[in-house]
Amino acid sequence: MSDIYPVNPDIAAKAHADNEKYLEMYKQSVDNPEEFWGEHGKRIDWFKPYTKVKNSSFDGDVDIRWFEDGTTNVAYNCLDRHLEKRGDQVAIIWEGDDPSESENITYKDLHQRVNKLANAMKAQGVGKGDRVTLYMPMIPEAAVAMLACARIGAIHAIVFGGFSPDALADRIKGSGSKMVITADEGLRGGRKVPLKANADLAMDREGVESCIVVKRTGGDIDMKDGRDVWYDEVTAAASADCPAEEMNAEDPLFILYTSGSTGMPKGVQHCTGGYLVYAAMTHEYIFDYHEGDVYWCTADVGWVTGHSYIVYGPLANGATTLMFEGVPNYPTVSRFWEVCDKHKVNIFYTAPTAIRSLMREGKEPVEKCSLDTLRVLGSVGEPINPEAWNWYNEVVGKGNCPIVDTWWQTETGGILISPLPGATALKPGSATRPFFGVEPQLVDNDGNVLEGATDGNLCMTTSWPGMMRTCYGDHERFKQTYFSTYAGKYFTGDGARRDEDGYYWITGRVDDVINVSGHRMGTAEVESALVAHAKVAEAAVVGAPHDLKGQGIYVYVTLNAGEEPSDELKKELVKWVRQEIGPIASPDWLQWSPGLPKTRSGKIMRRILRKIAEDDFDALGDTSTLADPGVVDELIENRQNRQ
Ligand code: PRX
Repeated sequence: MSDIYPVNPDIAAKAHADNEKYLEMYKQSVDNPEEFWGEHGKRIDWFKPYTKVKNSSFDGDVDIRWFEDGTTNVAYNCLDRHLEKRGDQVAIIWEGDDPSESENITYKDLHQRVNKLANAMKAQGVGKGDRVTLYMPMIPEAAVAMLACARIGAIHAIVFGGFSPDALADRIKGSGSKMVITADEGLRGGRKVPLKANADLAMDREGVESCIVVKRTGGDIDMKDGRDVWYDEVTAAASADCPAEEMNAEDPLFILYTSGSTGMPKGVQHCTGGYLVYAAMTHEYIFDYHEGDVYWCTADVGWVTGHSYIVYGPLANGATTLMFEGVPNYPTVSRFWEVCDKHKVNIFYTAPTAIRSLMREGKEPVEKCSLDTLRVLGSVGEPINPEAWNWYNEVVGKGNCPIVDTWWQTETGGILISPLPGATALKPGSATRPFFGVEPQLVDNDGNVLEGATDGNLCMTTSWPGMMRTCYGDHERFKQTYFSTYAGKYFTGDGARRDEDGYYWITGRVDDVINVSGHRMGTAEVESALVAHAKVAEAAVVGAPHDLKGQGIYVYVTLNAGEEPSDELKKELVKWVRQEIGPIASPDWLQWSPGLPKTRSGKIMRRILRKIAEDDFDALGDTSTLADPGVVDELIENRQNRQ
């Protein structure tokens, strides 16, 4: 039996939903989605109201539409409609890497900044439907750039600042971006990140037409005549009046590249209307957001969490959202908690990997802060282990703050499975129950539907407004990746257990995707980076348990004939992967393997490699079908110590 933490009655009394209301709304949302979403779609302002609500099919060509004849604009909903009531309210609290730097930006101010940049972008020839790549640090201009794109109907494609020039170039190419918005340098944990220098390499490779550069550090960078302009200069010259483009509900809002089991990362494409309705509604209910709350999500805008729960959801709700440039342990390991006190944060949303690393530092760095404004805590990105959950609950939340363990994906646009603070009794490690309109299903490997308490592959049987609509420029890939494994269902790639109370426990990816510190990485991507090295003949990459990161990257490398393994070469290969993809893809362990376990037809048996990396030798299964069963013993003998 797992521990159960009942709902705190004080929280339930004030919350948007208690258990009874959750059950009633959930029932309505699945029994009558048209009526439910027809009503809740009105939480955003529409230029032309919709008359149709849901029109979606997971069969055949897979066609997903919500509110399809309505028109609106995301930036209008995040800014203009708040001006009358809350123009002087703080929209974004920005906390710099250096604790002495912070800034409060009101809705009025943000509106002006967005309009100016939008006009400056237009002057550079960017308009509706054009793609713009953002490669930004966590500074207010990142949110301004997102909203400026939304305002003029341009589609942003954000690339996390930790990706390499090549990875950036691939994404610029994939999205066909004509403009890049970046900064001279980023600043994280006191260290500079050479964003513009990286962007130069990528832009030169892809022949990008124009680039707007924010001055963040004042570092020495090259500005290319005719291509690069300073953000400050072009916005100073621009008018603060830029009408919001009328967008159809189904027009794309953004593309975000994410890793899959095979091939290049996919351009996950999200739309305007359904996405915003879903991001805003989940933000309000799941974090139990109330007027006046200060809300802080520690993610980076380079990931989907930053899109939906730093920028779009909170701003659509007229919230005060905190944007943090730095890292949890700089200048000290109390930084998160100091920021909570400094800005009187009520709702705090972070990743288990951050909690685990801070937990190592003991209670003192937390307890020296008051944290008395905190009311709700959130977790996202990977399963949260019960030890980390308990520490988060007791040491950070002082036992008074419900923890919402939110399960979702880049593809889902918003949270699908999560407790609601006033409604759901908690079990540490469980994401609990589906949000309104979400219909999870567990199936076995043959696609048979499993009922009751069981383990299985997690699918969704019907669409919700915030889900992705296609892979940018490749609808076939969208169909293949998500709807072909189990026909007529969206397959998440995750395994899950459903318990006797109907609670879901996510057990992790069942495909070749790994989750490193909550960042998603395709094993195939790391492999192709490795084999691109002149000395490498073959490589196989798997995930293995890592104390801090959740999963770490374990690689098996076969060198070309005549090459000798050495510690130096090991270092060189790790550095190579960092250069090819970015620091987030750094291998944690590297094993030289003269042979890899292959079937007689030459297919690498990853299952065996995964088990060896996990030290789970009893579960290797049948190895008799291998071309050379002897390689297994050799691999076991030379495995890397993961401690
Ligand atoms: O395996 C699940 C894990 O993260 C994957 C999605 O990664 P990404 O698209 O990068 O989005 C991360 C932020 C939404 C999922 O397939 N995951 C995410 N949240 C949880 C989780 N695993 C367990 N519990 C969670 N709360």
